Amino acid sequence: MFSKETYIQRRATLRNKIGSGLILIPGNHESPMNYTDNTYHFRQDSTFLYYFGLDLPGMFGVIDVDNNLDLIYANDVDIEDIIWMGPQKSVAEQAFAVGVDVSAPLEKLGQTVERAIKAGKRVHFTPPYRAENQIQLSNILGIKVSNIKQYASLVLIQAIVSMRSIKDAAEIAEIELACDTGYEMHITAMKMAHPGTMEQQIAGTLEGIALSKGTGTSFPIILTQNGETLHNHNHSFPLEAGRLMIVDAGAESNGHYASDFTRTIPVGGKFSQKQKDIYNIVLAANNKAFSLTKPGVTYQSVHLQAARVIASGLKELGLMKGDVDESVANGAHALFFPHGLGHMMGLDVHDMEDYGQIHVGYDNEIRPIDQFGTAYLRLGRRLQPGFVITNEPGIYFIPALIEKWEKEGINKDFINFDKAKSYLGFGGIRLEDNVLVTETGARLLGKRIPINPEEVEGVVAGH
Ligand code: GLY
Ligand code: MN
Repeated sequence: MFSKETYIQRRATLRNKIGSGLILIPGNHESPMNYTDNTYHFRQDSTFLYYFGLDLPGMFGVIDVDNNLDLIYANDVDIEDIIWMGPQKSVAEQAFAVGVDVSAPLEKLGQTVERAIKAGKRVHFTPPYRAENQIQLSNILGIKVSNIKQYASLVLIQAIVSMRSIKDAAEIAEIELACDTGYEMHITAMKMAHPGTMEQQIAGTLEGIALSKGTGTSFPIILTQNGETLHNHNHSFPLEAGRLMIVDAGAESNGHYASDFTRTIPVGGKFSQKQKDIYNIVLAANNKAFSLTKPGVTYQSVHLQAARVIASGLKELGLMKGDVDESVANGAHALFFPHGLGHMMGLDVHDMEDYGQIHVGYDNEIRPIDQFGTAYLRLGRRLQPGFVITNEPGIYFIPALIEKWEKEGINKDFINFDKAKSYLGFGGIRLEDNVLVTETGARLLGKRIPINPEEVEGVVAGH
């Protein structure tokens, strides 16, 4: 938790941006795994964390803009709770710690909202992504659960995005803690990348590191030799000599800030020439993207420059053909690089994605490009100092996609399909760093995880 003043200041800034009405910020609830009292690991809602800081289930924050008042609605524990959970601070004490002077039991929340609606006030909330919160808002507001998201407040979304996009020094320090843990996770994965080791054994070890240093991983670990599946959570195979293992894994700090790194490791510690050729293209795309990252530049343009590095490298290897710029304009690179270059990162690994990516990654000036591959780019708009973003180009050989494009003749002027088919079974390569946009350029967050092929080989070999 940050200082009380941080939360008071954030709520005051939000009040000023919104101008009038009532802002509802629901916290998350415990979520049952298989019966009520056996719950998933509790994760507080990030918006609630940002404005109210309290990491407890069953709380509801209200910012009454017109009356200049912040409130927390939650129930105090009773004697039965104390028997099972131990003594707990009262809601009033918890609220006071984050500069909120008024608290009340949850049952009073409905009346507060009803009064505001009767007085003709606008009630603002962001789109709820959890069923419990959708139902809670539906009950309070009298809107059908299925309609609740469409009543979310665009002005509130835009105001929060404008604040959360710019990370302050304390937030960056939290992200760097998560990066330090991420570094340790990835070095460990490299050291364990030997034939015969189960993917699961490595994934579990990384999970343990994340839990031992913070609140766990920032998203389910992606660790696989079948890296052509972009988000592959199947860790059930023994490592085979000569294959490539993608590890896309990050940690969450105790303050709930994320890291998100990807490295690709040769099982057994030696890249083949064929692997190294592809690896070096992805590395060049990563380095090029980093060199272009600075305030005022659109991340859409950086993504397209990375795509050009990939298309040009693949042309040199005979996998692509024709004019590089034309091939990228036609989206031909997306056969091999079918995702975006990166996303915002902060309290969420894909920061604020619950608000709708269009509001986070785009604006009136920079609109999404509706073309396969680039359409997945989650951040396109102009970069500003304080943005924390990922830089994660990749090259993959996806059998079903190659087959489809060849059959349908998609981008046939730019793709050498026979050559592409000779890479089936190759898997994929992705290299991801976390980047802070500074006043003058950018800096990598955390110590850079070994990335040059020789460095990675050295770590696997135990040097
Ligand atoms: N690290 C997973 C992702 O960015 O989607
Ligand atoms: Mn990522």
